[in-house]
Amino acid sequence: LMKYLVANWKMNSVDLDLWEKNFLKVIGSEKDFPKSHEVKLIICLNLYDYQLFSKKIQSSKNQIFQNIILYAQDVSRYKEGAHTGQISSHYLKNIGLEGSIVGHSELRENGDTENIVFQKGLKLKEQGLSNIFCIGEDLVTLESNEKKSFLLNQLKAFCKKDVKPDLLAYEPIWAIGTGIEADSENIKSSVSIINDFLEQKKINTSILYGGSVSVENILEIIAIPGIEGCLVGNSSLDGEQFAIIASKITG
Ligand code: PGA
Repeated sequence: LMKYLVANWKMNSVDLDLWEKNFLKVIGSEKDFPKSHEVKLIICLNLYDYQLFSKKIQSSKNQIFQNIILYAQDVSRYKEGAHTGQISSHYLKNIGLEGSIVGHSELRENGDTENIVFQKGLKLKEQGLSNIFCIGEDLVTLESNEKKSFLLNQLKAFCKKDVKPDLLAYEPIWAIGTGIEADSENIKSSVSIINDFLEQKKINTSILYGGSVSVENILEIIAIPGIEGCLVGNSSLDGEQFAIIASKITG
């Protein structure tokens, strides 16, 4: 079964040469590194870095590095026009990206409603691009036992018309960037809520976990039934850590 490891570099400056060097250092020394058909590596980068990083990928002699796929972190919900600062799915497609994250909690916090997230998914689909659809509850929702209805609401709002998650990342907001990874019981119960919904809708999608994934906890997280990969923020900024996480993710 294919596993997925997604890096979300967010608005951090990453030294691309150093990242590549550190990544390759691990790849070269790990004799058991997963083959490219076992784990798909996706990097959601700052678009400013796209040209340079895609050139590195294309010219790399390392097969694992060569197979890295590049995604955006966001996309406009509009097709084109007077939307200062936004980037259309058409543009993403034209420059060569394969998809984008939609629904990340940091963008929901910034005003992305369920409907906006859906519109963004639709725009990607219209260009034949893939989405990584993020959902997850905050601590108040979890503690008031409203996780299930909250997650179902997010899923229902997105899975309409022809839109569906191509990859689905379960990211409890309280675990993002906090160093507190969700406990496996919570992840398991969320996976079962999500899977029941997907089965009902006959949607076939891999579920990833995101929220403080690190070299230390990756083995524990990837062992949870139903989790087929991870979305990694902080620990993806260093090529070495990202590669170590990738090396532990074989199925
Ligand atoms: P984190 O970020 O790994 O730094 O918690 C995850 C994410 O926001 O996708």
